[in-house]
Amino acid sequence: MIKTKAAIAGLALAVSAVVANAGEVEVLHYWTSGGEAKSVAVLKDLLTEEGHSWKDFAVAGGAGEAAMTVLKSRAVSGNPPAAAQMKGLDIQEWADLGFLADLDGVATKAGWDELLPKVVSDIMKFEGKYVAVPVNVHRVNWLWANPAAFAKAGVKIPTTWDEMIAVGPKLKAAGIIPLAHGGQAWQDATLFEAIALGMGGSEFYNKAFVTHDDATLRSAKMVEIFKTFKATRDLIDADSPGRDWNIATSMVINGTAAMQIMGDWAKGEFTAAGKVPGTDFICAPAPQTEHQYTFNIDSFAMFGLESKDSKVAQDSLARLIMEPKFQEAFNLNKGSIPVRQGMNETPFDSCAKASMASFSSTAKTGDLVPSFAHGMATTSSALGAISDVITNFYNSDQSADEVVVKLANAVKASM
Ligand code: GAL
Repeated sequence: MIKTKAAIAGLALAVSAVVANAGEVEVLHYWTSGGEAKSVAVLKDLLTEEGHSWKDFAVAGGAGEAAMTVLKSRAVSGNPPAAAQMKGLDIQEWADLGFLADLDGVATKAGWDELLPKVVSDIMKFEGKYVAVPVNVHRVNWLWANPAAFAKAGVKIPTTWDEMIAVGPKLKAAGIIPLAHGGQAWQDATLFEAIALGMGGSEFYNKAFVTHDDATLRSAKMVEIFKTFKATRDLIDADSPGRDWNIATSMVINGTAAMQIMGDWAKGEFTAAGKVPGTDFICAPAPQTEHQYTFNIDSFAMFGLESKDSKVAQDSLARLIMEPKFQEAFNLNKGSIPVRQGMNETPFDSCAKASMASFSSTAKTGDLVPSFAHGMATTSSALGAISDVITNFYNSDQSADEVVVKLANAVKASM
């Protein structure tokens, strides 16, 4: 009895300590699909368990274009959220404008420098200080396939882009849409990026999309890549324009379509639907990119806050994101792999394990490249220019010879 009383008193003390420091964090994100919503709920639960409150600020729209527009208008009116999902060079741009909070206190205490690959911590820092926290590593160059659809058509999953184009008629003859695709600029760019990496190789890819070498952008190789990209139009259906990526994934899940080229957030949809890799679906590298890895790191940038309590809650959020419990539970749902090094790999499925192995091997060979389509490779203005050129080409009868000139000129004008 005495023991119980003491325990209750202890608990009451602990609760009051938590509540005394409780604050609210408003979190802007664009994780609204089935798998994504399950993933973000992990973070919300961990934060609220510490007594803080989570104000959800979800702005739907794949790859976050709509969310970034909303963020800009909130920031301009002097009322940014406490945390916003943000990536790559955007982090540097916001920090340079003076909006972001210094997270070095949390980072030093938890030893983030030792827990993160340098390629990642460099992106999270501005002038040597952490201003954002990474949650995961997504591999973008994946092909998701429905094995039953392939069996029905009597064809193999393609490993080259020529094979990809060639399986189209056979899949169609079996009543299956070869490629599930959503006609949105960022999805067009995701598909194009995979083709460019596979056909051009990593060095070509970096020269075109990271350092923007003019001769590479106008090269004969780039012409060839655009031709193959246009040829994939024969693989997609007439209802593709405007389709969300997760609807495209559901077409592969239910066998209406045979494949999708998409980052491994697509796996979050298969998992949420109770599907098992290797049996119900196959994850294979996008054609010709087996030994390459296009990385896409999601992270939260923290904005400068006035309220002390909110600042406490914000620091808790930053700390929780890097803790093993979150890194495991979140990434199991999201389809990505933990960004924190030294995590136990056992709970992860075969696709995630393949991603982990490839992430470390490609880092050694120079084949770990930033996804330009997902904001990891270049400035937002260069990305906007590239992605406009790609999507206009895909949806018109422009020739591949014409488009490379447009691409090189658009990139030059954006810099
Ligand atoms: C990516 C993002 C992923 C996923 C996807 C679809 O850019 O990194 O986390 O949300 O877009 O919206």
